[in-house]
Amino acid sequence: MSAKQFDVVVIGGGPGGYIAAIRAAQLGFNVACIDEWKNPKGGPAPGGTCTNVGCIPSKALLQSSEHFEHAGHAFADHGIQVQGLGLDLGKMLGRKDNVVKQNNDGILYLFKKNKVSFFHGRGSFVKAGDGGYEIKVAGGSEETIAGKHVIVATGSNARSLKGAEFDEKNILSNDGALRIGAVPKKLALIGSGVIGLEMGSVWRRLGAEVTVLEALPTFLGAVDEQIAKEALKVFTKQGLKIELGVKVGEIKSSDAGVQVAYTDAKGGEQSLQVDKLIVSIGRVPNTIGLAADAVGLKLDERGAIEVDGDCKTNLPNVWAIGDVVRGPMLAHKAEEEGVAVAERIAGQHGHVNFNTIPWVIYTSPEIAWVGQTEQQLKASGRAYKAGSFPFLANGRARALGDTTGMVKFLADAATDEILGVHMIGPQVSELISEAVVAMEFKASAEDIARICHAHPSLSEATKEAALAIDKRTLNF
Ligand code: FAD
Ligand code: NAI
Repeated sequence: MSAKQFDVVVIGGGPGGYIAAIRAAQLGFNVACIDEWKNPKGGPAPGGTCTNVGCIPSKALLQSSEHFEHAGHAFADHGIQVQGLGLDLGKMLGRKDNVVKQNNDGILYLFKKNKVSFFHGRGSFVKAGDGGYEIKVAGGSEETIAGKHVIVATGSNARSLKGAEFDEKNILSNDGALRIGAVPKKLALIGSGVIGLEMGSVWRRLGAEVTVLEALPTFLGAVDEQIAKEALKVFTKQGLKIELGVKVGEIKSSDAGVQVAYTDAKGGEQSLQVDKLIVSIGRVPNTIGLAADAVGLKLDERGAIEVDGDCKTNLPNVWAIGDVVRGPMLAHKAEEEGVAVAERIAGQHGHVNFNTIPWVIYTSPEIAWVGQTEQQLKASGRAYKAGSFPFLANGRARALGDTTGMVKFLADAATDEILGVHMIGPQVSELISEAVVAMEFKASAEDIARICHAHPSLSEATKEAALAIDKRTLNF
């Protein structure tokens, strides 16, 4: 029997893959998407890392744990008395699982709506033929299909630490970190990156004593220095113990928990006994089971699929997107690449602007940025102007009772073009979009400063920071 033929076969149904499949279907192609993720009952759970063990469940727990912390600490300031506050962790985790399921189901619905054929199982390259590529699906749906074009979107996996392999019982990846059955008394995280801070915040708010061990001497090196400094101050005040410049040594796991030996920044030998350890030291591109060799698909030295600026691989009509290729490992970056590739297959001019991809860390306060940091501008010798505005001077932030942080603008010294916008504070995950739009349209800081912003709103801090570029803030 000959293989079922598709115009486009997408391998991987995470945010990169499922969005690519939908866009390709919108453009009139006959599309298949293969994804192997299983829900607890063994059924399909499309949405990838993002939906199942990443963006979505982490944000659900961040929200729940923030409510818990507010009820315990912040409500009293508003004159709200809470008695008998308790935590039903099982229910909180169940709610998170439900949010995940709603997203899985939503993607299956979208596939149906857009007439994308979904195959549940692992997709592996078999061979290249006249009409494109043959791909075997196994471990769920069992069949072989063929695609004229193939988009590989197989994502990434958590990087493990040598000598401390994940058992998801004591030594946890992001997966286990999202389903600890009882709040650990003591929790350690290795790596103070995005996962370290988000998951560290969740479990600290729920009552764990949290220590974060970071190898680098600088905190959040990719973040604007001024913002990172403020973040370290705030997180430390909240009770996260963040140790920088450490060298992690032997890790021993037993029924009693985990013992982590490390050398601190001053060279002192330390030992930490904790109930659970989360290792969050980055992620590695995933090509497990793809059989890249079968067709000669080229990987780079990091194990990522090698692509050019247009996401083309070394093979004709084979494309790769998202975490499995170079660039930031972010869901929205994967999605943009998915759309761009589908449009390129259709002969259009899909485009991803890497200079305007926003970053958000969903701690409290949130951290968000787009464009270049002050240290990057200094290093490149670009003449710039900086302006910032604190939420302390913003009426809405005062009314919310959340005045931590600031908005900071960086603009070209001569042309006033916005080069970077950096924020730490309440709801900045939403505020950053204005900065992204402004940079996409090559706006000047003056453009933002002259736009009417609703009062009272947090977005007025954005306008004021733009005004601060020319030292003419109105409320500070
Ligand atoms: P993935 O989401 O990893 O999806 C790949 C899919 O392909 C998976 O379903 C996998 O099972 C499947 N697959 C792999 N190989 C095969 C095969 N051979 N056959 C069939 N299927 C296969 N990013 C953000 O932008 N915002 C956030 O808030 C955020 N939070 C995060 C929180 C955590 C804890 C983690 C771990 C990550 C977070 N990320 C966040 C990163 C984000 O999850 C990834 O960047 C994103 O999921 C990458 O999308 P992708 O489509 O490339 O790959
Ligand atoms: P990360 O790259 O953000 O941070 C890893 C940290 O671990 C770095 O600070 C690094 O210096 C440190 N580290 C590395 N090896 C170490 C060692 N041996 N000992 C101590 N420290 C060590 O990686 P993380 O947090 O694992 O997240 C992976 C990726 O997932 C992120 O880079 C991001 O792309 C994505 N993500 C995005 C989120 C968001 O957008 N809000 C949330 C969570 C994850």
